Amino acid sequence: MFAWAPAAIDAPAHDHSLLRRALATFPTGVCLVTTVSDAGKREGMTINSFASVSMSPPLILWSIRDEARSADAFLTCRHFCVSVLSAAQRDLAMHFARPAPDKFADCEDRFQPGFGGCPVLREAAANFECSTYSRYLEGDHTILLGRVERFSSQPAASLVFHSGQMGSVWELAASLPQPSQAI
Ligand SMILES: Cc1cc2nc3c(=O)[nH]c(=O)nc-3n(C[C@H](O)[C@H](O)[C@H](O)COP(=O)(O)O)c2cc1C
Repeated sequence: MFAWAPAAIDAPAHDHSLLRRALATFPTGVCLVTTVSDAGKREGMTINSFASVSMSPPLILWSIRDEARSADAFLTCRHFCVSVLSAAQRDLAMHFARPAPDKFADCEDRFQPGFGGCPVLREAAANFECSTYSRYLEGDHTILLGRVERFSSQPAASLVFHSGQMGSVWELAASLPQPSQAI
């Protein structure tokens, strides 16, 4: 540890709760990732591990916890769609972050079928319809890379996740201490 590093943030990396809290200081967007099995069963989950990787070819990534209920579907799928949620879609972020046998049943009208039959979220800030490019098993997660086959975007305030809270940048800014008061 460097002499100038504050001791208060030093914690053993195996302390999962402190590690989660430290990782949550990094603000991210919130996405919904969806797929459909060969048998026609749709799956979807809320994620914030989305990142852009490459322009040529156009690649994006996200990671899935191997113990997730829907892991089998996402680890074998040929296509998936990542939707960047707008701040107005916070209810969907909460809904798709909980295990359920059919998460689409009570929000059918908010999706339309897209590339490879994957559900595509209407009115998302952006949609990236992908074919599965590669997978990397790392620790207790698998990193999935997708090749973007189709995409769309529209002007919208995106949903933000920061320190365990989800909302628009304005909502989060109002609920957090100002930088001069923090630390
Ligand atoms: C803001 C937020 C971000 C999340 N990001 C991820 C993620 O990147 N990868 C992941 O596997 N689970 C993530 N989760 C947890 C999943 O949404 C949750 O485990 C969900 O139940 C998985 O769907 P399933 O149970 O249908 O498999 C996140 C949850 C929230 C609220």
